Amino acid sequence: MKELLLALPHRDESYRVLIGPGLRLGLGYLLSPLDFPSRLFLISDSRVARLHGAAVQSALAEAGYTSTLLTTPPGERAKTWTVAQRLARELLRLGAHRASPLIALGGGVVGDLTGFLASIFMRGVPLIQVPTTLLAMVDAAIGGKTAINLPEGKNLLGTFHQPRLVVIDPDFLHTLPPKERLNGLAEVLKAGFIRAPDLLTYLETVGPSLFKNPAAVTDIIYRAAAIKAQVVAADEREAGLRRILNFGHTLGHALEQAAAFRLSHGRAVAFGMLAALILSEKLVGLPQEEAQRGRRLIQSFGLVRRAPALDLKAILAALPMDKKRLEKDLVFVLLRRLGEPVIQTGVPLTLIKEALRKVLGGGG
Ligand SMILES: NC(=O)c1ccc[n+]([C@@H]2O[C@H](COP(=O)([O-])OP(=O)(O)OC[C@H]3O[C@@H](n4cnc5c(N)ncnc54)[C@H](O)[C@@H]3O)[C@@H](O)[C@H]2O)c1
Repeated sequence: MKELLLALPHRDESYRVLIGPGLRLGLGYLLSPLDFPSRLFLISDSRVARLHGAAVQSALAEAGYTSTLLTTPPGERAKTWTVAQRLARELLRLGAHRASPLIALGGGVVGDLTGFLASIFMRGVPLIQVPTTLLAMVDAAIGGKTAINLPEGKNLLGTFHQPRLVVIDPDFLHTLPPKERLNGLAEVLKAGFIRAPDLLTYLETVGPSLFKNPAAVTDIIYRAAAIKAQVVAADEREAGLRRILNFGHTLGHALEQAAAFRLSHGRAVAFGMLAALILSEKLVGLPQEEAQRGRRLIQSFGLVRRAPALDLKAILAALPMDKKRLEKDLVFVLLRRLGEPVIQTGVPLTLIKEALRKVLGGGG
């Protein structure tokens, strides 16, 4: 088992992030030191519940816990006020109280929704994250950001509520569809680009057969999760450093939106990272051979195969800014070297368009 400690010094708080194959089967014993009441509430989506709910519930029972499993529909549509309220009312009916821990068993959607609920139910109850997608393991489950969506947009209602423990079992990934693995892989690459050239070297070495190598999967989860934990520990509320986690996401989000979400998040971020590498070369002196190395790595994992046919205007319209102030307000994370991010505003619109045309080829 590998272990990270996420310390939040300004609040004198810390929590452990445990990583290891099979950990889900010992979940109850891992919770024992936290002195929770013996009644626990698991929240999961129906797909994860069907695949993994029973094993996790029996692991809790083995350590003397009684658990109730509440489920949501799978996918982004569960991150709503309606679902949060329904879960809160079910918890009340089942007798949950101020000390009742909620365990999020699922991907980033379940993690965000359960985290949000845990932060407001009875003015806040303990949260445990048990991520089951690669994206949640290396990103969403760590750092305490919670959210639900509004019809006006994603993640518009949210809180910061740190978990008391994060338990990452890479064995959950055996049932994860390949497309979902790629979503997580884009975030692993991002972690390497912003903070850890050695992780990029490692990914180059293991290559696209990564998922056939369980030890390598555990390793990359550990390395990428460590980067997320370091960044969050230094800047919990995204006042500065945490913004570097948006590398590839400025244009990635716009591409996702312009494609009306037919482009997966991971592929959208991968195209966004390709564009950010071009802008980094042009604006902040990223050496050409490093940009080329980054491009090759992104391409080698099949993330940017077949560029979507998207209208440049639609992509620019999806950027989160007043069009008149676009160049001034739009924040990009660029790289001076691989592993050395800079926050850049004032990127000329002509360069943004040029970069998008290059990465989308005929599609742009
Ligand atoms: N809080 C944060 O810091 C943060 C960071 C990044 C992303 N997010 C959020 O995370 C969400 C995306 O998370 P995601 O990509 O994990 O998506 P997800 O939670 O929707 O999971 C993707 C799909 O995989 C299925 N699934 C999950 N685990 C499985 C498993 N082990 N086997 C088989 N199927 C499984 C789910 O049922 C779902 O259909 C977004 O809502 C995003 O806003 C939050």
